[in-house]
Amino acid sequence: MADDLTTTAQALVAPGKGVLAADESTGTIGKRFAAIDIESTEESRRAYRDALLSTPDLAESISGVIMYDETIRQSTSDGIPFPKMLADHGILPGIKVDTGAKDLALAPGEKVTEGLDGLRDRIAEYVELGAKFAKWRAVITIGDGIPSATCIDTNAHALARYAALCQEGGLVPIVEPEVLMDGDHSIERCFEVTEATQRAVFAALAIQRVDLEQMVLKPNMVLSGKDNERQADVEEVATQTLRCLRRTVPAAVPGIAFLSGGQGADMATEHLNAMSAMGPHPWVLTFSYGRALQDPALVAWKGEEANRDAGQQALSARCKANSAASQGKYRPDSAAA
Ligand code: 13P
Repeated sequence: MADDLTTTAQALVAPGKGVLAADESTGTIGKRFAAIDIESTEESRRAYRDALLSTPDLAESISGVIMYDETIRQSTSDGIPFPKMLADHGILPGIKVDTGAKDLALAPGEKVTEGLDGLRDRIAEYVELGAKFAKWRAVITIGDGIPSATCIDTNAHALARYAALCQEGGLVPIVEPEVLMDGDHSIERCFEVTEATQRAVFAALAIQRVDLEQMVLKPNMVLSGKDNERQADVEEVATQTLRCLRRTVPAAVPGIAFLSGGQGADMATEHLNAMSAMGPHPWVLTFSYGRALQDPALVAWKGEEANRDAGQQALSARCKANSAASQGKYRPDSAAA
């Protein structure tokens, strides 16, 4: 089992490949659909995920797909369960196992991610359904007087307990501590909070005996707050993100797969490309984007079967651009769409 997990972790960050995060909860996908007037039903969500996951040649740039509980139980229009369809194409099926970020008690404005209760049994069921890896997202908000040490430590503890349960049960954990880009904070403040968060996460992983060779880290990039008047450029974001991660992420971790966090699709690609081009690094750098891969596809698809090909082409273009970026070979003018 241990060797399998090491192999799976390495496969998730294989050269030129990244992860497609398609694990929006029913509430979140509902908001994305509503923004472009698509009704969210079990069938419309299935049809959308079917279109995404059936994109031709997806396996050339995508190593794994993260699904939501509803999706991992659904099938293609031809009746093939999504996990089987992905595995048949050489793509690792993954599953979001947290149950969402909730208000942290006695900590106004801060969140803690829930989902540890009963997780051992849920992991066993997901393994039966074909999952090979999992994801848990912790959310750290920057604001007036926050984040508190309470918030950072509580989330780090939960992430580490999740990761230990995954490794025990046979799934590679993607450990995702996300420092949000919402707010008017500076890039320096984002650096400071991301550094403190990563330190707490790796301390907690050590306490819970998590094997670093058998996980993938999914961090935010070090960015200016969305509403800060000074927006750091690509070079500065790449330099500060790498400086922060070199201080905090042990070289035993096989790969770092960034989240996009609300950056535009092009920006997320450019940032990854700049960091990759600054290598060599102790770990593989790649992407595990949700919005930065899907947004153009969702807009092209518009909920209509007739636009399925257009949606797939938009997704494919983003996947190829990010595959190139993970190798420092992205050229904006050569990217389709
Ligand atoms: P974004 O890339 O849209 O931030 O989504 C990644 C993800 O998996 C969030 O948990």
